[in-house]
Amino acid sequence: MTKKIIEIKNLSKNFVNNGSKITVLRNINLKIETGKVIAILGPSGSGKSTFLHLISLLDAPTNGKIFIFGKSITDINDEEKNKLIREDISIIFQNNNLLSDFTALENVAMPLIIRDEKYKKSILIAEKFLKKVNLGHRLNHFPSDLSGGEQQRVAIARALIAETKIILADEPTGNLDNKNAKDIFSYFLKLREKNKIILIATHNRELAKKADYALSISDGDIKRANV
Ligand SMILES: Nc1ncnc2c1ncn2[C@@H]1O[C@H](COP(=O)(O)OP(=O)(O)OP(=O)(O)O)[C@@H](O)[C@H]1O
Ligand SMILES: [Mg+2]
Repeated sequence: MTKKIIEIKNLSKNFVNNGSKITVLRNINLKIETGKVIAILGPSGSGKSTFLHLISLLDAPTNGKIFIFGKSITDINDEEKNKLIREDISIIFQNNNLLSDFTALENVAMPLIIRDEKYKKSILIAEKFLKKVNLGHRLNHFPSDLSGGEQQRVAIARALIAETKIILADEPTGNLDNKNAKDIFSYFLKLREKNKIILIATHNRELAKKADYALSISDGDIKRANV
């Protein structure tokens, strides 16, 4: 069995804005193996979020294909797509995307509840994951009553609880202090043992150095980068 679970072929992504075309990604070819933490670097506006959104199936390429577990995600039907999103891919959004009417515990439990796990059991597991991100003391807070960094840690716990093979993290430590950023990053590094793929878009070079390797997006191209 191949260890490469994400394969990208001739991938391009354009946006059209006010009639003018923006080419964000141009003819990208890439293979990503399991058991790796990979930092995605590049200046603001270079396409890091766009790249993660394409892999997470939130957006579709203009050209080219993305294969996950050997299947082209542009060619599978909606049912297969939803299954992939529910079971195999987690994304931590740059802006958190927490549900404002639900507590921290309920937000974190949501991926399990969506999979038809029992509510009580999901909440108990959510508590465990909130403790892992140092939020055991904020379980019943609503997002609006949490600091930016705390909200970010809730979003991280929500992605981790799903235990998916692929974790896409879009600047997950952007709002965090040094200690919490390091703790979260160490946790991502530990997940390598579970043979996951972890892609982390970040502006933090210190953390990127700890990744297995870094990719840098620049002028539509993605290349291996030295950090
Ligand atoms: N829906 C859209 N319509 C038009 N242009 C878009 C759209 N989404 C993104 N862009 C443009 O694509 C480029 C890449 O955006 P993206 O959000 O991927 O950058 P990024 O590398 O994540 O930046 P940052 O570090 O600031 O988060 C930007 O120039 C942005 O303005
Ligand atoms: Mg971004």
